Amino acid sequence: MNLCYLNGQFLPLAEARISPMDRGFLFGDGVYEVIPVYSRRPFRLEEHLARLQRSLDAIRLANPLALEAWRSVVGRLVEAAEWPDQSVYLQVTRGPMAVRNHAFPAQIAPTVFGLTEPLVTPSAEQVERGVSAVSAADFRWLRCHVKATSLLANCLLRQQAVEAGCAETVLFRDGILTEGAASNIFVVKDGVLLAPQKNHRMLSGITYDVVLELAAAHGLPAEVRDIFEEEVRAADELWLSSSTKEVLAIVELDGRKVGAGPTAGRPGPLFKKMHGWYQDFKRRVMRGE
Ligand code: PDD
Repeated sequence: MNLCYLNGQFLPLAEARISPMDRGFLFGDGVYEVIPVYSRRPFRLEEHLARLQRSLDAIRLANPLALEAWRSVVGRLVEAAEWPDQSVYLQVTRGPMAVRNHAFPAQIAPTVFGLTEPLVTPSAEQVERGVSAVSAADFRWLRCHVKATSLLANCLLRQQAVEAGCAETVLFRDGILTEGAASNIFVVKDGVLLAPQKNHRMLSGITYDVVLELAAAHGLPAEVRDIFEEEVRAADELWLSSSTKEVLAIVELDGRKVGAGPTAGRPGPLFKKMHGWYQDFKRRVMRGE
């Protein structure tokens, strides 16, 4: 039985019901979080809850739960689940309306939902061999820093990758790298890690932060700045990061091998280091260090 949380109650997922008048359902008027859990320990929980607060502020929705209440919802879902490694999903929408109206209703109770699923991280083969990606123009709105549930554009963009037999779609807006359809993207050039700067064009990834922290801790030089499309196409290495994919090498973009020389089309040496640092860091978190 998969337990979920809905508006103050824990109940089997199959029994959870929301109104079809919910603004999340009709308008995508809500925000969410995805939190990886390793050996029943939520990874970077405080950072995810802080981002949830920023997303709620951005859509002008009061946080329905205090921090302590969020921690306890997550804790209870994690304890009740069968699997030690999980992906906890939290969502808050502006709630059900009496009549369909774009403007915010005066009286409304937000819908608060929480769910945990088994965490599916990349396979050993994907880590070893890397994944392919396609590129596309980023046609999303200009508030991509908000982790909004209105993900139609992201779904269309990810589907483009899937239909090309690829794992992700790398997005460019006005010739500048933004992010992936559901991940952040990094470039390695001449031994330097390049990361797009955080702004309204991309989600400020929790994994992105970990990658930059690990680079700093291990003396890997990093630059956070605008990255031009030509730089992505001439990259020595390309990586993607997300809570569920962790760090993964992109070894082919639009059918062309990433990198040059012996590691062209294969995960590069800096990816291997970063992947190792990430796994070590996770293990320390799991041990509660
Ligand atoms: N997505 N950018 C986008 C558009 C994303 O959807 C995600 C993650 C990221 C990476 O953020 P983080 O490192 O905090 O997971 C960047 C989640 C996993 C999802 O929607 O399922």
